[in-house]
Amino acid sequence: MRILVIGASGRVGRQLTHKLLKLGHQVTGTSTNRMLSFDSPNYNHLLLDITEELPHLKPKISGDFEAIFFVAGSGEYGLLEIDLHGAVKTMQIAETKGIERYIMLSFAFSLEPERWEEEGESGIADYGIAKHYADEWLLRNTKLNYTILQPCTLTETPGTGKIAVNIKHHLNNSIEDVASTLVEVLDNPSAFKKVITMHHGNVPIHEAISSL
Ligand SMILES: NC(=O)c1ccc[n+]([C@@H]2O[C@H](COP(=O)([O-])OP(=O)(O)OC[C@H]3O[C@@H](n4cnc5c(N)ncnc54)[C@H](OP(=O)(O)O)[C@@H]3O)[C@@H](O)[C@H]2O)c1
Repeated sequence: MRILVIGASGRVGRQLTHKLLKLGHQVTGTSTNRMLSFDSPNYNHLLLDITEELPHLKPKISGDFEAIFFVAGSGEYGLLEIDLHGAVKTMQIAETKGIERYIMLSFAFSLEPERWEEEGESGIADYGIAKHYADEWLLRNTKLNYTILQPCTLTETPGTGKIAVNIKHHLNNSIEDVASTLVEVLDNPSAFKKVITMHHGNVPIHEAISSL
């Protein structure tokens, strides 16, 4: 497939891009300012800053893509501009250009703010609010074939290839397993139009997603 990874230079984005290329996909990865190279002729790089206004952003994203992964994020500053408004602009572009498949990396229970305190996440209120409304937009205001993947805390630990989905509480996730799960949801119909919470677990990723 021809795939756009928005945020390919990030911790998740790099591993995701690498895995997609390994499977033979044609991947265009973005960064605002870094040139990336992956050891593949199927990789193209795009300098893209999603804080740009829609009329400037739109021509930069080709309608040729068959799927978009949104794995970008501001970190600390620019939550409204990047994680919320920036994300929504990419959804609007996807719809305008007929790119139906849109996969959002979010965080566990983003759609249930009332649980953030209970889960010890009250300190992330601003981040949570930005992601909450970006996810709400994707669900309620687009006709995109979305998947919203919601892991908990990301850790730089080796993946196990096994996860738990539809989780009850927060636990860690290896970034490698999150990247593998993003790859799995791309064309697994069980993941279409689903919000999927996850953390590390005992079920092989393909099996866990196919059970949804
Ligand atoms: N940290 C956690 O524990 C956790 C848990 C659950 C979910 N998540 C979600 O996972 C996402 C990815 O995490 P990560 O650790 O991979 O993030 P990261 O390493 O900080 O990467 C962020 C990515 O966003 C891009 N970006 C930043 N500003 C941008 C802009 N204005 N326009 C376009 N792209 C921009 C960065 O590109 P350049 O810097 O190269 O420009 C980079 O590729 C987070 O944003 C968060 O929503 C995180």
